[in-house]
Amino acid sequence: MLKYQEEKRKMQAETQNSFLQAVFETQESERKRLAVDLHDSVGQVLSAIKLNLHRIDKLSGNAENASTLLASTRKLTDECIQEIRNIIHNVLPAVLIDFGLADGLKDLCNYVQQNTGIEVNYSQNLNGARFKPEIEITLYRMIQELFGNAIKHAQASVIDISLSKEAELIHVNFKDNGIGFNKESIIHGFGLKNLQSRSQLIKADIKIHSIIEKGTQTTITLNINELDN
Ligand SMILES: Nc1ncnc2c1ncn2[C@@H]1O[C@H](COP(=O)(O)OP(=O)(O)O)[C@@H](O)[C@H]1O
Ligand SMILES: [Mg+2]
Repeated sequence: MLKYQEEKRKMQAETQNSFLQAVFETQESERKRLAVDLHDSVGQVLSAIKLNLHRIDKLSGNAENASTLLASTRKLTDECIQEIRNIIHNVLPAVLIDFGLADGLKDLCNYVQQNTGIEVNYSQNLNGARFKPEIEITLYRMIQELFGNAIKHAQASVIDISLSKEAELIHVNFKDNGIGFNKESIIHGFGLKNLQSRSQLIKADIKIHSIIEKGTQTTITLNINELDN
């Protein structure tokens, strides 16, 4: 009996440990992404602005050149503001937090369609239902990763995404019509690993099905009451 209890305690500790490890890795890669985003976008633009200002200072005797530089600097500033908005949108999707998953995803779909030219078809039947924050945020992050992959790797022209609720189950179906990939021959990045660890966090089941030259389909299913058990 004692031995059994000891075994059970050990197993629980191990589960807890890998759970925390997954949370930690997810947060770390989130931070890494934020740092890379800031460096690549805002950092670059700000450096250009600084250089321009330095040159304007030197040119102050030459009014015409100075006004050209000022116009270009203003444009850079606008770009910078837009980049910051994009990053904030990524890090903290306000619509998601305030209005929930269905509206958050709608916003994300519009954003992707407008910024990539990919046709994004979205449907949902949630009727305004809200879920625990960890479910909403985790699913949203997973779908962000799926969008990222479809945009970066798939060369897709159409993405279909549906979010549905049937009794206690939530289903997400995400499909691109891109080039597909072979699980054995890809270099595993953080993204696919993160999808697995995030689905473990919310006890969801994730299946990725990809066919070369046909596209990739990912389904995520979870029971909204499962997290409490
Ligand atoms: N939707 C997709 N279409 C085509 N290839 C994909 C898709 N998703 C993932 N892949 C392939 O799987 C690899 C690993 O993806 P991932 O783990 O998300 O890493 P990353 O996106 O950082 O490269 C990608 O580099 C790509 O080759
Ligand atoms: Mg990825």
